[in-house]
Amino acid sequence: MSNDAATVHPVPEATMQGAHVFGMAAHQALVAEAEADYGGYWARLAREFVTWKTPFTKSLDDSNAPFFKWFEDGTLNVSYNCLDRNVERGLGGKVAIVFEADDGQVTRVTYSDLLARTCRLANALKARGVKKGDRVVIYMAMSIEGVVAMQACARIGATHSVVFGGFSAQSLRDRIEGAGAVMVITADEQVRGGKQLPLKAIVDDAIALGGCESVKDVIVYRRTGGKTGWHPSRDHWMHDETEGQPEVCEPEWVGAEHPLFLLYTSGSTGKPKGVQHSTGGYLLHAALTTKWTFDIRDDDVFWCTADIGWVTGHTYIAYGPLALGATEVVFEGVPTYPDAGRFWKMIQDHKVSVFYTAPTAIRSLIKLADASDAVHPKSYDLSSLRILGSVGEPINPAAWEWYHRNVGGGRCPIVDTFWQTETGGHMITPLPGATPLVPGSCTLPFPGIAAAIVDETGNDVPNGQGGILVVKKPWPSMIRTIWGEADRFKSSYFPPELKGYYLAGDGAIRDPGNGYFTITGRIDDVLNVSGHRMGTMEIESALVSCTDLVAEAAVVGRPDDTTGEAICAFVVLKGERPTGAAAKKIATELRNWVGREIGPIAKPKEIRFGDNLPKTRSGKIMRRLLRSLAKDEEITQDTSTLENPAVLAQLAEKN
Ligand code: PRX
Repeated sequence: MSNDAATVHPVPEATMQGAHVFGMAAHQALVAEAEADYGGYWARLAREFVTWKTPFTKSLDDSNAPFFKWFEDGTLNVSYNCLDRNVERGLGGKVAIVFEADDGQVTRVTYSDLLARTCRLANALKARGVKKGDRVVIYMAMSIEGVVAMQACARIGATHSVVFGGFSAQSLRDRIEGAGAVMVITADEQVRGGKQLPLKAIVDDAIALGGCESVKDVIVYRRTGGKTGWHPSRDHWMHDETEGQPEVCEPEWVGAEHPLFLLYTSGSTGKPKGVQHSTGGYLLHAALTTKWTFDIRDDDVFWCTADIGWVTGHTYIAYGPLALGATEVVFEGVPTYPDAGRFWKMIQDHKVSVFYTAPTAIRSLIKLADASDAVHPKSYDLSSLRILGSVGEPINPAAWEWYHRNVGGGRCPIVDTFWQTETGGHMITPLPGATPLVPGSCTLPFPGIAAAIVDETGNDVPNGQGGILVVKKPWPSMIRTIWGEADRFKSSYFPPELKGYYLAGDGAIRDPGNGYFTITGRIDDVLNVSGHRMGTMEIESALVSCTDLVAEAAVVGRPDDTTGEAICAFVVLKGERPTGAAAKKIATELRNWVGREIGPIAKPKEIRFGDNLPKTRSGKIMRRLLRSLAKDEEITQDTSTLENPAVLAQLAEKN
């Protein structure tokens, strides 16, 4: 692979003049600064981007690796940095959030408003006894209140754990229990694509499942007024709680290592991991990457379409843009309602200048735009756009080119940002004023990030040869631990054979010419479906927990044109192998079961049945074969070690 000249998109100098990092020489100077004095580089930026209550005296503490500490003796408050600081700088009247509801209704909130609302909720939480270090689960849809809830927790030093509104009662219960949350903040319902969907009812179900005894209070934001159950001793309306609360709330000044949030994410084995992030280092990278990767300027309107339930919504909605005093769009709905022109219409209406979305969304909108001019980006005025971004999964060059041409009018750089829940912010990404672009490549490490590609023993592989993506040095916004599972943290991310490097879990390759990185996908049993991270084992456990029906299950991913990867499950039932209509019926039942156990995003796209799974004589499932079957490939691999080759024909059959 080589990035020949034809595929390279140079920096559009005219539009990028004045960028925060302008030109490759500036980029290289930052890389060199970090190399020359790593701790000093991050300390300089931490002073520039973060306002500290007590200044730190030390940058990196690596004395207890891999439990790294950054800026440890400094104290600060994230909510102060995102809100008060902007008001003090004279931005009180500036719009912080332009909220567009599912039905198109728009609400604008200034920095002063957002500060007042955050303080009132923070005071309400304190009145309920929530204090520094307590965990609060937030189970809400996209809303101003969702951002306010996160900021209010940060203000009082409570550690939030946001759970995506699409997760089931069972998943929510697991996360509440794992975090030991004292409070859940939710809404009566959420509205998406014209439909009202329950939230509070799912919280009730989660708590009823047991194990959530730590929860004393549930605060409910009234979004729709839809009917919901009520436990008077536990449940409180948000508007009642905040009424009469002062609009001032002294921030809780916390140490830089204080856990700002936990966010559960899927791993290759076992239950989801509670990724723990810090306060100081995290905020630094959130603000810094928002500024440099998106080249945010005072008059920009930034729109990140992610949900606050995922890390992208944390760093690039709840924290990064607000820390910079930017104006951002927050959207409640879905890209296809009322029609597939919604994104383009919103860019036009709100004059969005920096737009950040996922390849899955682009790919699904391409199909719909091809089918109808009315929802094609060309039917909208997108001239406000300056920079486009992509996140969550590899963007295939065809989708990249379409996005560049049709949405960006050929003039907007696309920043393909590689990062993870664990990394807190961008790791490998173009800087739009500096980095020439190659479709499908996330280009170069963010200045200061020591990303590299190594073999199984941690030795560098030459460019042009694929390998394991690692980060050789700790960085400020890295995961601090897995909540309550320090050993798992060490073994998952710092395996002894990799010389103490951080293991990302992805494969990658660098171009022999310019050294650009291309991510080749996960190297573990983690799937990426529509940019959502799912563990194959989690889905397998959900299937086999259907003990009435399922004896055994194996789950693999297969490439999918729209969702990137699709979930394909191979199932052995307790009874006879079903065929025809019976197979279809049971497959539907099992898909719904998984939806209830984990959430709709985990439902397998396809379920196939066999009398057994392909196993070696020692009983090991041959997943390689299952991956080929899922792709409908002819089996060319050696099957001589297979105990039961006859099942291959069964498992090749679609229902
Ligand atoms: O496989 C990589 C993929 O998404 C994984 C991280 O998922 P999550 O923790 O849910 O965070 C998603 C939002 C940052 C990675 O291990 N991934 C993320 N961004 C990219 C990507 N793969 C290729 N290119 C990207 N830009």
